[in-house]
Amino acid sequence: MRSSLITITLSAAALAAPSNFFSPQCVDSIAQISASATNFDLSTGAPPANATVPVNGTYGIQLHFCKPTTPIPSRSKTLQVLVHGIGLNGGYWYSGFEPEKYSYVRYMAALGFPTLTVTRLGYGNSSHPDPVGVVQAPYDVAIVSAILKAAREGNFLGATCAFSRIVYVGHSYGSIIGNGVIASQPKLIDAAVLTGYSHGEIDASKIALVPAATVDPIRFAGLPDGYLTTPNITSRAATFFSSTPNSYDPKALAFDFAHEDIAAFGEVLTSAYAVVPAPEFTGPVLAINGADDILFCKDTTCSNLKAEKTFYPKAKSFDAVVIPSTGHSLNFHYSAPKTFFSINSWLVRRGF
Ligand SMILES: *[C@@H]1O[C@H](CO)[C@@H](O)[C@H](O)[C@H]1NC(C)=O
Ligand SMILES: *[C@@H]1O[C@H](CO)[C@@H](O)[C@H](O)[C@H]1NC(C)=O
Ligand SMILES: *[C@@H]1O[C@H](CO)[C@@H](O)[C@H](O)[C@H]1NC(C)=O
Ligand SMILES: *[C@@H]1O[C@H](CO)[C@@H](O)[C@H](O)[C@H]1NC(C)=O
Repeated sequence: MRSSLITITLSAAALAAPSNFFSPQCVDSIAQISASATNFDLSTGAPPANATVPVNGTYGIQLHFCKPTTPIPSRSKTLQVLVHGIGLNGGYWYSGFEPEKYSYVRYMAALGFPTLTVTRLGYGNSSHPDPVGVVQAPYDVAIVSAILKAAREGNFLGATCAFSRIVYVGHSYGSIIGNGVIASQPKLIDAAVLTGYSHGEIDASKIALVPAATVDPIRFAGLPDGYLTTPNITSRAATFFSSTPNSYDPKALAFDFAHEDIAAFGEVLTSAYAVVPAPEFTGPVLAINGADDILFCKDTTCSNLKAEKTFYPKAKSFDAVVIPSTGHSLNFHYSAPKTFFSINSWLVRRGF
């Protein structure tokens, strides 16, 4: 297993957007996804040691498929599947705010990659089942696994072919789910890019969450109290954005807060289920965090990220990248193009 800590030194030219950096053609859909899993009994308000509650259902999941804007034959059958974190939705990857700088989907489309962005169960226009009993880590892993199988077959709206390779790109809880996928079904994907994540316990006191319907009674109308969200923009900035001065545009933060999504109480209580070693995953793994991520970095250089390699003992390679002056929500910082550049550079080096 190879391992390296990539140091990023980039000239302005290297970061310039590709010339045909226009908006990609995308297809939105709600896919009916069936999955079953064994969830935890949370009736005591805390997860018991073992999962015992079978959950089986079919739910609508919001998908957003975008075609490349630059045809690159060697990449046309490699699908990047993008999975967001809590308090966000698929829009984290295709931000409407200055997309030429902040849209990961647009960046990768210009570099020849088709992308399938998932808005997870309970978020955005996906179904909103019981946020405590159903929306839990085991069921999230099952739903995302079912999507990955369908995705490889090209079985979703907008797809014109099956895909020979899948690169999973997660952020935060989306990385937790990705970790759970490669731990339980190590052959489902070909490469894992886990952003805004590391193994270890999250200090829950660093994330303020309140019932979503109390924060935005119109957008979150009718949702039960187990659907939470961040209470205000100050709290959101403190948790998800860098404390380094001038590391993000206040307009990016305002956009992010205006488009904030939920966090399901069931997920929050059961994340440890998926934060486990993935001993049988044999693809390459990239871990990438902002240096100022207060949730998943233990110090100001995120020195703990290098140690993540111990969780992927059979991985073809493991690399850790730390983006300076960047908090948890990497895609909303001034450094976003640098993050996207480093992910693409890694994909190139690992043969994608
Ligand atoms: C949980 O499951 C394990 C393995 O099946 C078993 O050994 C253990 O006793 C169970 N714990 C509880 C609290 O049921
Ligand atoms: C889930 O429920 C459906 C419909 O009742 C059933 O056909 C299917 O076998 C169940 N799947 C599992 C894994 O329990
Ligand atoms: C949900 O669908 C509506 C209607 O198409 C759309 O305006 C809205 O932006 C969608 N929400 C998300 C989070 O994508
Ligand atoms: C924002 O939310 C936090 C956490 O709930 C709270 O302590 C703080 O007073 C709130 N700030 C404002 C300006 O409402």
